[in-house]
Amino acid sequence: MKTLLLLYLCVFAVWAQDNLDYDDYDTDTKPSSAANKTTTVDARGHRPLNRGRETYNPNRYTPPPISGGNRYRGRPTQTQTPGRGSQTEEKVEQPEAGGCTHASEEMGVLCPNGCELKTALLKQERTIRTSVNELGPQVDELSRSSNNVYNYVHSMSSSLRERQRVFNENNNVVTRYTDRVEEQHAYIKDTVDTVFPSNIRVLQGVLDKIKQKIQKLEKAIQAQREECKEPCKTKCPIPVVSGKECEDIYRRGGTDSQMYIIQPDSFTTPYKVFCDQSTQNGGWLLIQSRLDGSVDFGRRWDEYRRGFGNIAFDVGKGHCETPGEYWLGNDRISQITKMGPTEVLIEMQDWAGDKVHAQYQQFTIQSETSNYVLAVNGYSGNAGNGLLEGSLELFGENRTMTIHNGMMFSTYDRDNDNWNPGDPSKQCSREDGGGWWYNRCHSANPNGRYYIGGAYTKHMAKHGTDDGVVWMNWKGSWYSLKAISMKIRPFFQSR
Ligand SMILES: *[C@@H]1O[C@H](CO)[C@@H](O)[C@H](O)[C@H]1NC(C)=O
Ligand SMILES: *[C@@H]1O[C@H](CO)[C@@H](O)[C@H](O)[C@H]1NC(C)=O
Repeated sequence: MKTLLLLYLCVFAVWAQDNLDYDDYDTDTKPSSAANKTTTVDARGHRPLNRGRETYNPNRYTPPPISGGNRYRGRPTQTQTPGRGSQTEEKVEQPEAGGCTHASEEMGVLCPNGCELKTALLKQERTIRTSVNELGPQVDELSRSSNNVYNYVHSMSSSLRERQRVFNENNNVVTRYTDRVEEQHAYIKDTVDTVFPSNIRVLQGVLDKIKQKIQKLEKAIQAQREECKEPCKTKCPIPVVSGKECEDIYRRGGTDSQMYIIQPDSFTTPYKVFCDQSTQNGGWLLIQSRLDGSVDFGRRWDEYRRGFGNIAFDVGKGHCETPGEYWLGNDRISQITKMGPTEVLIEMQDWAGDKVHAQYQQFTIQSETSNYVLAVNGYSGNAGNGLLEGSLELFGENRTMTIHNGMMFSTYDRDNDNWNPGDPSKQCSREDGGGWWYNRCHSANPNGRYYIGGAYTKHMAKHGTDDGVVWMNWKGSWYSLKAISMKIRPFFQSR
């Protein structure tokens, strides 16, 4: 009986600890700048080979990125005065004209007000509530069972006294038996006096901690509820200009950076994107954007395929000129990059405001049947050529393991990486926080977890790996960027 009870206690304590893993949304864990000094600076993006039979094969079939072709010529030089006037010339009726409340839901809300956060909180609240509801009776049960043990010990004590009386009468017969009873009695008494109360105290502490968290969540949810009372009704007119992609829109007079509707071909349902029409003469279509941690990027394959997040915000100027955090969707990215030669611009910013970029003249994503194989070429920029060369902090095979070019896309529920394929315990995406073209594993991790403040440590990471928004060749493994974005545009000579 005693063993059973102790076992039950142990199992229960472990269970209670496990159930505390929801608390990842604590807001009071900002990395302090002191972390800088203690941070281990070793590069962490790779998974070195174990001595033994493990082999690493970097060679995969990589279709070259699409190059050449003449989808666009250089832009006409006659300056068509960019501005609102030119936008209204286009009179093509847009399928989603009429404001953002009529827009399709596929890409998440257009003008988010924290509702996504609210949903996440509500989801957590439900699970934690269940845990606590289960925990309550179990603590009661535990108190009850320790009472039972008290009673048991009492009866043991009286039986002991009884035995001692018998013992006096019949010394020799009972000696051995008494010894055993005494031993047991001592053991159980000890358990009851020390182990049980302290275990109950631990559980009580766990319960209190969960209760505190629930209160915190409830407060946050209440605040979100207030904000979300009104459905999204920001006046956010869909621009009259639309096109195949952002370069097309620019050429049709849509020269303001904001949200637009695009339709790459006539078979595709039009959808919303953010166009950057000012950086390097514009024409950039935003396919990935991180800037404040408001959107969770630890998502499933299907979500990465379809896209998720918030395209744009209206900051009160009557049009949506501020991008949100989003992933455009692998199907869409693949389709657009396969229409012709495409370049990609990856811009990033640290928490001190410094900015760097990496640009590839060729960028192609294969379709889902090839698991969205990535192909890039033609690097320029000052952030470091991680996608093609891997992490420069690492050497030999360790570096090769962090090259992203030629990799398939992986999410935590679809493992296509190069780290012991087929071994479910060796999955980059599970450890590194987001969907990406993981090798074994990364030199760049733009879809990783968002750490406020930049520096973080392996103790803060869920799996001890560098799962932040990382670009190793700029800031190393243990610095999570403040902002990063990926933009694509048709490539043409003589811009
Ligand atoms: C972090 O360490 C680097 C390199 O030692 C130093 O340049 C930087 O100023 C430090 N940052 C902070 C916030 O302490
Ligand atoms: C690769 O990394 C492992 C562990 O990080 C290290 O022991 C090994 O020496 C590295 N190999 C090279 C060639 O740097």
